[in-house]
Amino acid sequence: METQSITIRRPDDWHLHLRDGEMLKAVAPYTARQFARAIVMPNLTPPVTTVEAAAAYRDRIVAAAGPGFTPLMTCYLTDDASPDELERGHAEGVWVAAKLYPAHATTNSAAGVTDVRNIAAALERMQRIGMPLLIHGEVTDHEAVFIERILQHLVRDFPTLKIVFEHITTRDAAQFVADAPGTVAATITPQHLIINRNAIFAGGIRPHAYCLPVAKREQHRLAVRRAAVSGSPKFFLGTDSAPHLREAKESSCGCAGIFNAPYALESYATVFDEEGALDRLEAFASENGARFYGLPLNEGRVTLERADVLVPENVPAAGSSLVPFHAG
Ligand code: DOR
Ligand code: ZN
Repeated sequence: METQSITIRRPDDWHLHLRDGEMLKAVAPYTARQFARAIVMPNLTPPVTTVEAAAAYRDRIVAAAGPGFTPLMTCYLTDDASPDELERGHAEGVWVAAKLYPAHATTNSAAGVTDVRNIAAALERMQRIGMPLLIHGEVTDHEAVFIERILQHLVRDFPTLKIVFEHITTRDAAQFVADAPGTVAATITPQHLIINRNAIFAGGIRPHAYCLPVAKREQHRLAVRRAAVSGSPKFFLGTDSAPHLREAKESSCGCAGIFNAPYALESYATVFDEEGALDRLEAFASENGARFYGLPLNEGRVTLERADVLVPENVPAAGSSLVPFHAG
């Protein structure tokens, strides 16, 4: 008989965009409803590069999300990232990790790193203090090229640096992470488990299915699914929920990002159920990430019940609306 309900340890989201101001107030409660903690990405305008900016942003998130939710802050790495500033932010408990955006790879990444050799001293320091490096591992739509040109060298040159390959989308990335040393892990989004690139062109251009990294071909989606349900501790939940107002998505130059926070856990549970792997959902959602980061597991529990849910066509935000993943 099919499982009707499961109870798991309260999960965490290891990759999230919460924005700021009115948008933050609109979206934070969706994540706080399901997750105890989240790694908050620093690609605001201007990017979060100082300890003070990160601490102030953390306070605004706590106010918007309400009690019971802990934001885990990240530093946005630039070419002149200061090793001392990174260490201070980490020691003060503000920064849990630092994010590497290759310059111009995605939304608000213009200030990103132009060459990883420019941040060698910062990486050296992060390696020494045990601060994880989170990588947007794609340049111009190609993970395999990024692995070969950059990631492989980083893993070799910084053998004890913890590295998270964020939002993997390809068989190459899943294989690379599986074969890499235990210092390397990956997050996986719901959309890359559920849609392939055809979803972006289904009967017309579908801006709400557009995110970065862009969804790839079916064989890649299937490989990423196998990795997620494999039981390997190297793969964990990171939604990359990335809200943009409807009019910013439905535009001649629509923004990249899928707002999946409202039904994130349900999306993952559906995938694990379809793969006959519901017994592995808890490790993926609630254990592997915390263990990799060296943080305690959450004490609370959540129960999921099998039921039909109608996902709304849109939800209000900042005087306009957001179209959630699975809308309608
Ligand atoms: O689709 C995306 N949206 N990918 C990213 O890397 C950034 C994010 C955003 O901030 O909108
Ligand atoms: Zn992201």
